[in-house]
Amino acid sequence: MNTQAPSKYTTKATGFHKLLKEGTQELHDQAESGDFQTRMISGDIIRAEFGQFLGQMRLVHEVLDPALSHAAEQDQRVTQIFDESHLRLPRIEADLADLDISMEQQPLPATQTFIDFIQSTATASPVSLIGALYVKEGATNGNKFVAKRLRESLNLKEGEAMRYHDPHGKDQRRKWNRFKELLNELGLSSDEEVACVKVAQETFRMVMNISREISQSNTVVS
Ligand code: HEM
Repeated sequence: MNTQAPSKYTTKATGFHKLLKEGTQELHDQAESGDFQTRMISGDIIRAEFGQFLGQMRLVHEVLDPALSHAAEQDQRVTQIFDESHLRLPRIEADLADLDISMEQQPLPATQTFIDFIQSTATASPVSLIGALYVKEGATNGNKFVAKRLRESLNLKEGEAMRYHDPHGKDQRRKWNRFKELLNELGLSSDEEVACVKVAQETFRMVMNISREISQSNTVVS
């Protein structure tokens, strides 16, 4: 069975998008080969573990979604790029309901660190949350492929429990291309762009720390 992800980085990045992409490329390479990510693709993941990941993402988005919405109310540049389709909380909750997994999970230490980071960033520099939005939105590219593999291995019906991993469906490519264009039209100052790259890098690290803690906790149990 083909377990190869589709080839990536086909279009040439420019401007602010290039800065984000190049600033996180190494972290992306590490993320792709993370234990949890690899197992999601190889099919070596169980429903409960996947549900645990979604449960932790629910806790993250319970804070990130309103933080982004609030930043969009405060700053026109965030309004320009952020839209309803970026809200992941209702999607995650519907996915958890599909899997019949409790919404009431306790945050793992890495999840709590991520939550604290979002809260402090939202206070100190709301516009730099665009860095977190970039990672979340960019991740839907690979997640579309991950969703296909999970659907097969977890025996899920079309659409079931994959609203978070595949939020845009057939609109994926168009949405991503438009998102990249918008990044380059924002007109952030160079200091703000650098701040966004730092937030993007932290977001990568924190998502990967959560994935790692989930993998470790399941290794101990089994
Ligand atoms: C399962 C492992 C993963 C695979 C197979 C994968 C695959 C891909 C692919 C194919 C693209 C390129 C899309 C394109 O430009 O055409 C992409 C982009 C991206 N992925 Fe992943 N990915 C994975 C994990 C992750 C994770 C865990 C994150 C973040 C936490 C992430 C964040 C991103 C971002 C931000 C981009 C956009 C890069 C850009 O600016 O062009 N990915 N991924």
